[in-house]
Amino acid sequence: MASSQTLSTLFIFSLLSFSYAASGSSKLPKPKAIYLPIRKNETTFQYYTTFESGNPQVPTMIDALIDLGGPSVWFDCTSYVSSSYKRATCGSNRCKKADWSACIDCDSSPIPRCSNNTCGIFAFNHFRQYLTLQELGEDTMIVYSTNGQSVGFSYDVPKFQFSCSLTVEGLTGDHTQGLAGFARTKMSFPSQISSYFKLAKKFALCLPSSSQNGLGDIFIGGGPYYMLPRPEDQSLSLVTTPLVVNPIATNPFFSEGEPSNEYFINVKQIEISGKRVAFSQSLLSIDKNGVGGTKISTMVPYTILQSSIYNRLVKDFVKEAALNNIKRVKSVAPFGACFDSKTAPNTITGPAVPNIDLVLEGNTVRMRLYGANSMVKAKKNVICLAFIDGGTVPTTSIVLGGHQLENYILEFDLTASTLGLSSSLLVWNTSCSHSRLS
Ligand SMILES: *[C@@H]1O[C@H](CO)[C@@H](O)[C@H](O)[C@H]1NC(C)=O
Ligand SMILES: *[C@@H]1O[C@H](CO)[C@@H](O)[C@H](O)[C@H]1NC(C)=O
Ligand SMILES: *[C@@H]1O[C@H](CO)[C@@H](O)[C@H](O)[C@H]1NC(C)=O
Repeated sequence: MASSQTLSTLFIFSLLSFSYAASGSSKLPKPKAIYLPIRKNETTFQYYTTFESGNPQVPTMIDALIDLGGPSVWFDCTSYVSSSYKRATCGSNRCKKADWSACIDCDSSPIPRCSNNTCGIFAFNHFRQYLTLQELGEDTMIVYSTNGQSVGFSYDVPKFQFSCSLTVEGLTGDHTQGLAGFARTKMSFPSQISSYFKLAKKFALCLPSSSQNGLGDIFIGGGPYYMLPRPEDQSLSLVTTPLVVNPIATNPFFSEGEPSNEYFINVKQIEISGKRVAFSQSLLSIDKNGVGGTKISTMVPYTILQSSIYNRLVKDFVKEAALNNIKRVKSVAPFGACFDSKTAPNTITGPAVPNIDLVLEGNTVRMRLYGANSMVKAKKNVICLAFIDGGTVPTTSIVLGGHQLENYILEFDLTASTLGLSSSLLVWNTSCSHSRLS
């Protein structure tokens, strides 16, 4: 805990000093890529980033959940003070350009700072599972360049568009003050940054399993990606699989017939120790109603599987574990299969258990999950298969969640419409937890 606090303080401190240095110099080189840190809250299992917003002389630090499927950026503005903040008025061009807008007027019980004739946009709150109408605003966002190795200069992004939650109903439900959406939309966090700096329309996430000894990465604009102590640029060794567009949004609050702006991939089969897990193939494709297929989500902590996939995966894994003399013990909810961790000794890639491979569309593209990603410690000497039963009729058959995505580089290339994937960084004795201070 102490080390994490020192690290965050250090990081903030270094950002501030870069910021002063940068405001002193008149002309900075165009950034090649933008970097933001990722921290993991080990109580809520959520990943969040930190950025600065507002008048660059006195910016406000905002912690915001990373929502890969989120269409926009929003945060709590109840105590946000910035002389450069501008609210959008109803019917303005800005308001018309924003998706999902509506006019907000103040009723008889005005909330703080509420004003009539304001442009409101809808923001979906995952934790509270509802939609709020929030004031559309814009302000200067402060971001940092990177050479793929360390954090560089600070840059101002004027007129960054976000919406402002002005009531407690709009808050995330976590300790964070907001949410940074990374979906395939114009208003998403990476889209706005890429378009302002004219960077490639791609971003990469490296989710840490813990941020106590180093922070995870968001790179906007492309590689190189250096993961010390590995000397090689990891952007050169990613394998790619197509991103699939679901023709129908899976979010219940989007209107019917709207295509999804979340990220889907095509999992073709699942293997345990090289043996195919048998279940109905039709679950893996997306039908005309948008049902089925595989989505990537940073909001769910563990991968959620449709029941028949889940049951078969658990059954086959238990069988394979037994062949490897891994002792099964009583299950710990919500997990369906748990084991004595003393019978699965720790390795560089986590507990020594059978590998689970997600076979993806593309030439020999697979995502290999080793013990660190397939198992979770449930209590002393007990590790469990870290997957959740999603019931018999979920909208999406497989929702790949945070625990399974940790310590991989995931590069979303929106121009090529591909997902670039590294091997587990643990194989190379590195991870997504780094210090990128120069
Ligand atoms: C908004 O308009 C309503 C109706 O015209 C009025 O009663 C209210 O005082 C106005 N609120 C503000 C904050 O101006
Ligand atoms: C994690 O989230 C919990 C619940 O919102 C909060 O109380 C706690 O302070 C957070 N921890 C960190 C390290 O941010
Ligand atoms: C992995 O790195 C750690 C220190 O970072 C080192 O102690 C360990 O020997 C390395 N293991 C392998 C297999 O290279």
